[in-house]
Amino acid sequence: MLTEAVRRRAEELAAEEKLPAYVYDLAALREHVAGIRDALRDGPELFYAAKANPDPLILATLAPYVAGVEVASGGELAHVREVLPDTRTAFGGPGKTDAELEQAVAEAERIHIESPYELERLAALRREADVLLRVNLAGERRGAALAMSGPFGMDPETIEQCRGILARAPWIRLRGVHAHLASGLDADAMVRQSAEILDWARAWLQDTGCADAPEFNLGGGMAVDYGDPGNRFDWARYGREIAALARPDETLRIEPGRAISVYAGWYVTQVLDVKKAHGHCYAVLRGGTQHIRTPVTKNHDQPFTLIPQGRTGPQATNTPVTLVGQLCTPKDVFARQVPVDHIAVGDVVAFSMAGAYAWNISHYDFLMHPPPGFHYLDL
Ligand SMILES: Cc1ncc(COP(=O)(O)O)c(C=O)c1O
Repeated sequence: MLTEAVRRRAEELAAEEKLPAYVYDLAALREHVAGIRDALRDGPELFYAAKANPDPLILATLAPYVAGVEVASGGELAHVREVLPDTRTAFGGPGKTDAELEQAVAEAERIHIESPYELERLAALRREADVLLRVNLAGERRGAALAMSGPFGMDPETIEQCRGILARAPWIRLRGVHAHLASGLDADAMVRQSAEILDWARAWLQDTGCADAPEFNLGGGMAVDYGDPGNRFDWARYGREIAALARPDETLRIEPGRAISVYAGWYVTQVLDVKKAHGHCYAVLRGGTQHIRTPVTKNHDQPFTLIPQGRTGPQATNTPVTLVGQLCTPKDVFARQVPVDHIAVGDVVAFSMAGAYAWNISHYDFLMHPPPGFHYLDL
């Protein structure tokens, strides 16, 4: 799991007293996304969801391998435009303000429309725009880590209101349908869901008179297994089966985030204390989940590798240990009751799978501990 390059950098950072730190392995990211790109050589188009990790060097590393970037706010759009001025963008997400709609019209290639009211407000700008309507289909998303039920997009009844609005606003070009229905689906489930979206969307677009070269954005949500990091999404199978679903005049597009960048990031820190409380062993680490909120939001054990150091001070042998941070809340837990051979003050802990929804979803100012440094392998 822990590559030699990351281990070396982690040990250097420990020696230089520069922990905690994020280490992004850009060489590994490049290799990973090149593999995905290869698996998708017959389609669909691959956009990267910037919300997973908008770090400029992550974006720049991905740029040669992706067809574009999906953004979900005016802030993300401005950021991506600045980092990758020539990249194609699609602007989605609920609650777009009027200012964001104007920005989207000016700067995004596609706008994903979330509600009839949003479409009305876009129409009121009287500017040319290329849109996909976001549909929210009901149905059980078996095996999903997160089902996007709720206020995302429009259900099949509500989306009907868009027909009239589009008819009155010929400056808006309806290009197709967008759907992001769930996260955490394996290749099989993802293909089944995509077929369901395509069936519905083709019929709807036909009825709406948008049958020419339609586009279908099938969303992201490709599964990532934090409990078994080696269990990767089967891109080869997915690519083959999705390509077979497309008809010749159609463009299929996807916008995954997590499954692209998650494996390239590491949160590296160090043991400050080892102690027992009520029969449980705890290792207190420098930093905390204010730097990597992922294990709290997903309620999982963040996978990690221990890199032994001096073995001075308090230590524990052959015992389950709970790894916690420096925050004064019982929620500040990286991993619970994980068996270790040995853990000691000064040991380095490298948390893997920290390249997506990690730093950028974290409440890092809480308690005002020093922020992590950022380090990049293979610049
Ligand atoms: C509309 C949309 N597209 C794409 C994504 C990316 O999903 P993931 O990072 O799970 O691939 C999300 C995530 O919430 C989303 O809401």
